Amino acid sequence: MERTLILVKPDGVQRGLIGEIVGRFEQRGLKLVGMKFLQMSEELAGRHYAVHQGKPFYHGLVEYITSGPVVAMVWEGNHAVAAARATMGATKPVEAAPGTIRGDLGMEIGRNLVHGSDSPENGVKEVSLFFHENELVAWQRATDGWIIE
Ligand code: RTP
Ligand code: MG
Repeated sequence: MERTLILVKPDGVQRGLIGEIVGRFEQRGLKLVGMKFLQMSEELAGRHYAVHQGKPFYHGLVEYITSGPVVAMVWEGNHAVAAARATMGATKPVEAAPGTIRGDLGMEIGRNLVHGSDSPENGVKEVSLFFHENELVAWQRATDGWIIE
């Protein structure tokens, strides 16, 4: 089963949108298997955004993601990465479709509310940056038969 790391970024937390954002993934049918509330250190931000090191927006990105607490979550499902990214919408909120998190709730790329892994491989890596395996919960969801064919 595929896993994706989702973050409610500091703007989502500060704006009181945790419940709204978590609800989008929950209603979609993804299954929550891990969740924590934390403030990211510069070191964790550096590891999480290592691929963006050297890019012009990198410094601002680290400042943004470490500026306040985030909600880190692991969501599981068939094609969890693609499903979560579709639910998030395009990176630039002005280009994100209505109905997506960024398209409904955001305005600017540097305040785009949510992070989601961009491939199953990066999902595995990113989950391990934020969670120990024993912090993830294997559970039977009563509605699975109505969501998974
Ligand atoms: P994320 O990693 O946060 O899920 O977003 P993403 O895959 O849609 O976008 P990515 O290319 O990985 O960029 C990571 C985050 O960096 C910020 N960004 N700013 N000012 C800029 O040109 C710029 N480009 C990217 C955004 O916060 C983006 O989500
Ligand atoms: Mg990305």
